[in-house]
Amino acid sequence: MSDFAATNNLDAFWMPYTANRQFKANPRMLVGAKGMYYTNAEGQQIIDGTAGLWCCNAGHGQPRITEAVSKQIAEMDYAPAFQMGHPKVFELAARVTAMLPSGLDHMFCTNSGSESVDTALKIALAYHRARGDGARTRLIGRERGYHGTGFGGISVGGIVANRRTFGTMLAGVDHISHTHLPEKNAFSRGVPEHGAELADDLERLVALHDASTIAAVIVEPVAGSTGVILPPKGYLERLRKICDTHGILLIFDEVITGFGRLGSAFATDFFGVKPDMLTLAKGLTSGTIPMGGVVCSKDIYDTFMTGPDNMIELFHGYTYSGHPVAAAAGLATLDCYKEDGLFERAQAIAPYWEDALHSLKGEPNVIDLRNLGLIGAIELESIPGKPTARAFEAFLKCYEKGVLIRTTGDIIALSPPLIIEKSHIDQIFETIRTVLNEID
Ligand SMILES: Cc1ncc(COP(=O)(O)O)c(C=O)c1O
Repeated sequence: MSDFAATNNLDAFWMPYTANRQFKANPRMLVGAKGMYYTNAEGQQIIDGTAGLWCCNAGHGQPRITEAVSKQIAEMDYAPAFQMGHPKVFELAARVTAMLPSGLDHMFCTNSGSESVDTALKIALAYHRARGDGARTRLIGRERGYHGTGFGGISVGGIVANRRTFGTMLAGVDHISHTHLPEKNAFSRGVPEHGAELADDLERLVALHDASTIAAVIVEPVAGSTGVILPPKGYLERLRKICDTHGILLIFDEVITGFGRLGSAFATDFFGVKPDMLTLAKGLTSGTIPMGGVVCSKDIYDTFMTGPDNMIELFHGYTYSGHPVAAAAGLATLDCYKEDGLFERAQAIAPYWEDALHSLKGEPNVIDLRNLGLIGAIELESIPGKPTARAFEAFLKCYEKGVLIRTTGDIIALSPPLIIEKSHIDQIFETIRTVLNEID
């Protein structure tokens, strides 16, 4: 541990989404990262079962990314994002959009998933207004959805703890029901069979509010932060159809599903359903430098590209939109994905991952197992009166044994770097098995 940390002077930093007092009493400090492993302050190797926070898809310490970032920072540290440009961000946008289905042709740059979501919601509102359909101001999210922590994101999001303390949030937002149906789908392998009809909940909201007031619907193709909730077979197709019928834009929040998590470049490819916009972050730079993006359809972009050409078309952007160092990291990350065949690799190893995960059926307190691509969820029965306690205990014990997992409620969520090998999968699941048998 550094001298500073050793003095336990940890007070000044208010940690995000963390039990500050508990952490500071017993810190878990990471000081190094390479490949599949972190090193902690005690010198222990910790295997990364979560790709950091679903972001380090190319694995840690990729020399190509490190080199590209160092080179860029020496060459040009920053360029103004407004009314000026630099080549790398144009190249990055071209390469990302080339990876997507045709028609998803334009990328706006942000610095995080939260900013991407708020940007997409704003584009949706401005798009309808630009078309003379400005009464479409209602935004629809989904229960149990997570779309980051901006006011837009928490408003369309569906996690009560993220919403209840922040007042009225955005007005005119509503939610369709979530797709978690454990009574019918528990222990499904991959995409669950039951629940496509839950998409029809959007028709209920159309009947209630009228389509002419609804701008957009935003969903995660696969929800991560509420414990991995998968779309039932046919659900996304049905949602797309209802949106088309009523002129509602469909936004996929691909902040965690983008860049190989499902073994395809994006969830839109995996499910064969094309949204009007999709949000990106995390894997875009493999978590190395903060960056996000919103990719939108040609129709949306073209709608803005009218009027006098000296006019700014969209009054929105960030000082660091398309930051040159982030753009360099993004380009090098895309090189890693391509040259090392990481998406194909994820797809090839996914069946082994699925078998390893489902081998936990029957272990103490396991009430559901869910997986898709390189995502896994182990849902534990909650201790009566103590929700989250059992999974958090598992998290602490796994960490002690050198495995980083992530928990949300009483669900263990796993999302390793795409460079994972079978021996790593064995280590992760055998440690979890041991821990499940050790804890109450
Ligand atoms: C689907 C989804 N959207 C948005 C976000 C927010 O991203 P960020 O934390 O980069 O703001 C996350 C983060 O986990 C996410 O999973």
